[in-house]
Amino acid sequence: MDKIRIVGGHQLNGSLPISGAKNAALPLMIASLLSDETLTLENVPRLRDVAQLTHILSNHGVDYSVNGKRAGEDAMTGQTVHLNAANIVDTTAPYELVSTMRASFWVIGPLVARMGQARVSLPGGCAIGTRPVDFFIDGLRALGAEIDIEGGYVNARATKGLVGNRVHFPKVSVGATHVVMMAAALARGETVIENAAREPEIVDLAQCLIGMGAKIEGAGTETIHIQGVDRLSGFTHPVVPDRIETGTYAMAVAMTGGDVTLEGARADLLENALETLRGTGAEITETNTGIRVKRNGSGIAPVDVVTEPFPGFPTDLQAQFMALMTRAKGTSRITETIFENRFMHVQELARLGADIHLDGQVATINGVETLNGAPVMATDLRASVSLVIAGLAAKGETTVNRVYHLDRGFERLEEKLRRCGAEIERIAAS
Ligand code: EPU
Repeated sequence: MDKIRIVGGHQLNGSLPISGAKNAALPLMIASLLSDETLTLENVPRLRDVAQLTHILSNHGVDYSVNGKRAGEDAMTGQTVHLNAANIVDTTAPYELVSTMRASFWVIGPLVARMGQARVSLPGGCAIGTRPVDFFIDGLRALGAEIDIEGGYVNARATKGLVGNRVHFPKVSVGATHVVMMAAALARGETVIENAAREPEIVDLAQCLIGMGAKIEGAGTETIHIQGVDRLSGFTHPVVPDRIETGTYAMAVAMTGGDVTLEGARADLLENALETLRGTGAEITETNTGIRVKRNGSGIAPVDVVTEPFPGFPTDLQAQFMALMTRAKGTSRITETIFENRFMHVQELARLGADIHLDGQVATINGVETLNGAPVMATDLRASVSLVIAGLAAKGETTVNRVYHLDRGFERLEEKLRRCGAEIERIAAS
């Protein structure tokens, strides 16, 4: 398995491009199942999760193609992909394909809405908590689907089509909001989603669905109204920039010091996280082309955070922020409220010399003067990159093992950081 080797202690300076958002690209690709015409997505990141989803969609019969290189593009430019689901030949998403990525479960919504049936394996994904699927099942049942679970598969049927209804989620769920919104787009009559997720990726999917002919109002608020239509058409849609990648690199710069412009980043997608970073002493400004992050001289001030659904501080930046706080001048507390088991990075950060105490969902971090490089193990996607951030500031050499987690969600991480002066390289498995 590949490793990443980092020699810490270098400031980051320069600029790096922000890719399209993984967590927008995945539901957008799945939305192609709703139409028999071609959906074209621009700015799709080159990631393992994207590749994995193309396998899953191909298995349903979706034709997938990627544009070749165009004038002015380089390896950092997002891809343009075309997805055509004119012939869905299989409505089963098998365990072998679904078990490695939770978002692949989301095909259940479009498949049952358009084909009247779906058989989808219960999902896998990062080991960050139990991550049940009850909201999906209750939501689709509310739209008239008959659902049973047998042998690790969820079987959904709606032979006469789905029917709009009120769907109230007991807790905000990004995935369940995506799925019910997609399914309701092809249901008869009106669906109202209450306590909907407000994440930018929900808005991005809604904009694409609207472009395909769906009637959706209120995406980005707690209540989404969807008036079902008979069919959806093709469309061309650019994937929104990745706010988690943006926040991750912003935290890396806050950690090492330096001055980096994150090209293509949009501050409105992560205001809470940027404000939190300003609290730590980083200078953050919006430029014509992206976001500039600077920290010079002064140390890192401790700031407490609580993860919350959007527009709160994102759980997907919790591990990275904890890495930053390990070197703060004082004590900070991080409370994780979204997932019950998202602190696996704590023991790995401790290997680098971090002083962190866990009490249930609250981590107390006493900032230390120096971190020291060590071999560490990536445990999930965001945890892995928190170890990279820590390694960039640690004295000496850090090797991050099991980097396949990183490749699920960060495009060309080493290249981007190296461009800004980091000493980081991938060591391919022999
Ligand atoms: N939940 C339930 N029942 C359900 C669905 C969710 O209890 O049926 C609970 C979850 O267990 C969790 C909470 O609701 O406690 C929120 O989970 P949510 O459904 O919002 O998460 P998700 O849709 O599975 C997406 C992102 C995650 C991100 C979360 C929260 C994608 C592909 N994944 O997951 O991203 O952490 O929203 O913002 O969009 C990542 O990119 O590293 C990642 C894990």
